[in-house]
Amino acid sequence: MTLRQDYFDDPSAWNALVDLLQDTFSIDVSILDQFDGPDPTSMPFGYFDADGRCVANFSAFSMPMIINGRVVKAAGYQSGAVRPEWRKRGLYRDLMQRAFSHTATEGYELDLLLTDKPALYERYGFRILPQHIFVAQTPTLQKSDLSARQLSLEAPDDLRLIRTLLQDRQPASAQFAVVRQMEMFLLNASFNSAIRLTALGDDTVAAWTFDGATFWLLDIVGTTIPSLATIVSALDIQPERIEICFSPDRLDCQVLLEPYDGYTMLMVRGKAAADIVGPLMLSPMAEF
Ligand SMILES: CC(C)(COP(=O)(O)OP(=O)(O)OC[C@H]1O[C@@H](n2cnc3c(N)ncnc32)[C@H](O)[C@@H]1OP(=O)(O)O)[C@@H](O)C(=O)NCCC(=O)NCCS
Repeated sequence: MTLRQDYFDDPSAWNALVDLLQDTFSIDVSILDQFDGPDPTSMPFGYFDADGRCVANFSAFSMPMIINGRVVKAAGYQSGAVRPEWRKRGLYRDLMQRAFSHTATEGYELDLLLTDKPALYERYGFRILPQHIFVAQTPTLQKSDLSARQLSLEAPDDLRLIRTLLQDRQPASAQFAVVRQMEMFLLNASFNSAIRLTALGDDTVAAWTFDGATFWLLDIVGTTIPSLATIVSALDIQPERIEICFSPDRLDCQVLLEPYDGYTMLMVRGKAAADIVGPLMLSPMAEF
């Protein structure tokens, strides 16, 4: 068995991780190859067998956050898996410890992860951060002067616009949001065909779903953040219920809170964790 870190430059090792994640979680992260490949900030730690199969992996990546108006140097952890025949031998513990000591040396102020197994990480000082859905009153709709145009990740011009805005965005919230996260946005949009990406004018993209009654606003990627009334008016929909899936402080709207009961839990640790004040939600487009 060979320990490898920072191995994404080697296409066969990247493909071996793709296989591990496909076999473990039934997800195909090779979709990233259609874009610019995996997150360049990613620091994977993995064990490979003699045939080049990736048998265990745990990755850290840079995920700058804005928390209470301050940009925080945060690390996310993802792609944690061990093949069944190699489990319960301490491989995952070893990889976690390597990733955590790597980010500690790099001076990250906050560590974030999403998991359905919180007990696994509590012993490393992570705690669950409760999340909330923000249920908004339906705003008074106005005649919109913003054009709304459906985008496709398969259209090169659309993809270019999305990437540019993801690069230059104002965080969707000043309270709790990612500052910059490209790969997970593109991957999440690719994984779920119900997600619509709509350009509102030239400077904003809304990520949303609508089932005819409920409108879920998943993210707003823009150089400025329009109000909820502006967004709903431009999309030209008349929802009965509006659920905002990120902290809505920049949307100029009234909200009620409902606890979010997701399949995974958001966990945090680190010195900036004390600065986090709820209610909050990590946009589903930033889920990792
Ligand atoms: C969870 C998983 C990665 C553990 O891998 P592993 O190699 O068996 O783990 P290790 O033997 O290194 O054990 C590490 C520690 O985690 C603990 N642990 C293992 N599985 C656990 C679980 N499901 N819940 C809580 N703790 C768990 C072990 O008891 C051990 O504790 P210790 O360090 O105090 O001794 C592996 O079972 C797996 O790939 N599962 C499916 C994918 C998954 O759930 N990944 C995690 C996503 S967040």
